[in-house]
Amino acid sequence: MIDAETLKKVKYWGAATSSHQVEGKTHNQWTVWELEHAAEAAANAEGKYAHWLPSWPDIKDQATKPENYVSGIAVDHFERYEEDFDLAKQLNMNAFEFSIEWSRIEPEEGKWDEAAIEHYRAVIRALKQRGIEPFIKLWHWTNPVWFEQRGGLLKRKNVIYLVRYAEKIMSELHDQVDFVLTVNEPNVYAGLSYGGGAWPPGTNSKFKAIKVYRNLVRAHKLIYRQVKAIKPELMIGLSQHLTYFYTEKGWLSRINIRLQSWLWNWWFLNRLKTTMDFVGVNYYQSNRITGLRTNNPNIKQNDLGWNMEPAHIEHVLTEVNRRFGKPVIITENGVADAKDQYRKWWLEETLGGIARAIKKGVNVQGYLHWSLLDNFEWADGFWPRFGLIEIDRSTMARKIRPSAQWFGEVIRTVRSRSAGR
Ligand code: BGC
Repeated sequence: MIDAETLKKVKYWGAATSSHQVEGKTHNQWTVWELEHAAEAAANAEGKYAHWLPSWPDIKDQATKPENYVSGIAVDHFERYEEDFDLAKQLNMNAFEFSIEWSRIEPEEGKWDEAAIEHYRAVIRALKQRGIEPFIKLWHWTNPVWFEQRGGLLKRKNVIYLVRYAEKIMSELHDQVDFVLTVNEPNVYAGLSYGGGAWPPGTNSKFKAIKVYRNLVRAHKLIYRQVKAIKPELMIGLSQHLTYFYTEKGWLSRINIRLQSWLWNWWFLNRLKTTMDFVGVNYYQSNRITGLRTNNPNIKQNDLGWNMEPAHIEHVLTEVNRRFGKPVIITENGVADAKDQYRKWWLEETLGGIARAIKKGVNVQGYLHWSLLDNFEWADGFWPRFGLIEIDRSTMARKIRPSAQWFGEVIRTVRSRSAGR
């Protein structure tokens, strides 16, 4: 049972995407990396997944082909955004989060591409015509190639380029939007691109990851100030990937949890207390800790092998509220589930958790599901399916998944209550 009476306090209902994962024909540091690493990724797939991933038999064909690892035309959202927004409207959504592709806006250093800016203006117009509120994200992990060649976010002096781009695009679009996200999941980016070497630029150094993390703090703060100066009423925040760490017993576990949540969840946000108007929460996973180990219960896993404990979003939301006391927007939350066997359950559990958090006083203003569309899942490529809308990439045909149909009805019910009807 959905607690529609409580959930009506949530004003924005919709879904999220990011440029590189859906648009197609982008040219950034990921594009270059994909072309260089696709053959190797396909050859290594069996070793990487077969021994532990339950979905391996289903994904094997796709995961062993190099084209799985090349974003290419993605799901052609760049050309088909109107069709996609029609579907979002059909699902009764009134909010949509998307990222602006920096490499389109500034393909060469200091040269602004007016046609690209015009494209995003048209995207926003198309959303508004359908009664959908745009949530603009300025940076979701992709950099223009020239920026990456100069050392990217590892160099403190490069931060000004990201800030300059943010200022430029917001000086063009500010009058059309009310919500802005500066950066997406700085912890995941610093961790995987610099701390673990799995993502471009493939750097494997904890020291460098910390440098990048600090530079992203700086980038966020500067963007916040510059963009606020353009339009003070804008609501500006960022999306952070938050994990719920818990234990059933033990002092060592509790110390471990403190340390891990400080590093992963709070270190970044603690530095932004005066430079965020809301907190963007991305929630996918919990970790149960026993002593020094992560010891997750043997429960349902999604296609990527992630443990699914969706109801724990309640604890993440209450903790964010306790620490920061700001409005919260859930800017990503979802499940890789090609067969659509878990998504409805996931949504039900999540909405239950959100309702309980609201009852405890958390001001949740929006829920944006990841994702509207099946998309390019970074180093895993196209096989993980996060979309409310399924996409057949051979024809680009879109099909609303049954869980999404159900979610659309939930949104309708909740929104009709909040309108007092
Ligand atoms: C990222 C998305 C990604 C999703 C699912 C989030 O951490 O922001 O880009 O597709 O997780 O893995």
